Amino acid sequence: MIHIAVLGYGIVGSGVVQVLDKNSGRISQNAGQEIKIKYILDIREFDDCPYKSLFAKDFETIVNDPEIAVVVEAIGGIGAALEYTRRSLEAGKSVVTSNKELVAEYGSELLKLAMEKEVNYLFEASVGGGVPVIRPLAQCMTANIINEIYGILNGTTNYILTDMEKNGTDFSEALHEAQKKGYAESDPTADIEGHDACRKICILSSLAYGRHIFPRQVLTEGISGVTLKDIHYAAKLGYAIKLLGRSRAINDKVSVYVAPHLVSKHSLLAVIDGVMNAVVIRGNAVGNVVFCGAGAGKLPTASAVIADVIDAVKHLHARRWISWDECDAGLVVDSTLLDSAWYIRTDATRSKVEKEFGSVIFAGGTGNEAAFITGVMNGTMVGDLLSRGITVQSRFRVLGDY
Ligand code: HSE
Repeated sequence: MIHIAVLGYGIVGSGVVQVLDKNSGRISQNAGQEIKIKYILDIREFDDCPYKSLFAKDFETIVNDPEIAVVVEAIGGIGAALEYTRRSLEAGKSVVTSNKELVAEYGSELLKLAMEKEVNYLFEASVGGGVPVIRPLAQCMTANIINEIYGILNGTTNYILTDMEKNGTDFSEALHEAQKKGYAESDPTADIEGHDACRKICILSSLAYGRHIFPRQVLTEGISGVTLKDIHYAAKLGYAIKLLGRSRAINDKVSVYVAPHLVSKHSLLAVIDGVMNAVVIRGNAVGNVVFCGAGAGKLPTASAVIADVIDAVKHLHARRWISWDECDAGLVVDSTLLDSAWYIRTDATRSKVEKEFGSVIFAGGTGNEAAFITGVMNGTMVGDLLSRGITVQSRFRVLGDY
């Protein structure tokens, strides 16, 4: 029998406890032995909770208990999560988490510590919720040079954009629904402004390119600038608007960014609706591989966390192929320079747009409004053209044909 501890009894922690209990027979069978929760760490009181007897308030009890082999960090954020992760690894315990903020900021340090202590630091649930993507990228695609990764990495914003597109719901109402369903981060700014997707593309890119890529190196734009008007114009042109995280290898450098994109209604990403996530990874041998499924939510996240727990139990002092090296400051290039077509909505007349941009595809607009798609150009060129007396209401990249 293996004893584990769950740190934090919020959405993720309580989901982990619930699924471990409900599927205990199958989980033990797959792990080769029984997995027993010995402690749940949370400072709050849960009087009616069926697991009340397992609650502990002091991390020292857990870290000093030699019986605890695996710690599930479900606290979230940095602070205590970082301290307890470091101390658990130092004490020779494997750590499993869905905490993308911590992995994106401290991944290389924590992976190095885990390696030194011959334990595992696993975070499958940190990207894509219940969708397996970390392990396939790190293991199944390891023979490839990764040329590109892009995808819908945030369930909350995809839920909001879908609701706006399909039902004409206004932004704040759709956000409220996503929060009620437990998809959003405690502070929804991280979802709305793209920080959550940024952390996830950092983790995937660090794995793919072998060097730690920090969120601060990544140009990040969220969905607060996407209006119902843009969604309407995009639809008229045959596109949906999706928030994408994207990284692309350019020679020996990488461009990484997060921004809303127009994606063709004929592409796979356009039909990934609601809380679903989808990630496309392009390897130079395998070509495009697509992963999709429930990207957020209590039980999908618990599913991925527990798979990592089982993996850790089966490899208590072995198997550390999920890793990357420290940051190389010169690796990440300015993503503004990446070429693409652009969707632009302005308050300029059509003739002014044509004068500055040449031939474009108009979506519509009358009088002092024009929405259109440009030819291929980089962000600096778009900025230069727009500085010639055209006021921009919205501008988003158009994802190329894949
Ligand atoms: N807030 C995140 C999302 C949770 O909406 O995708 C899962 O990482």
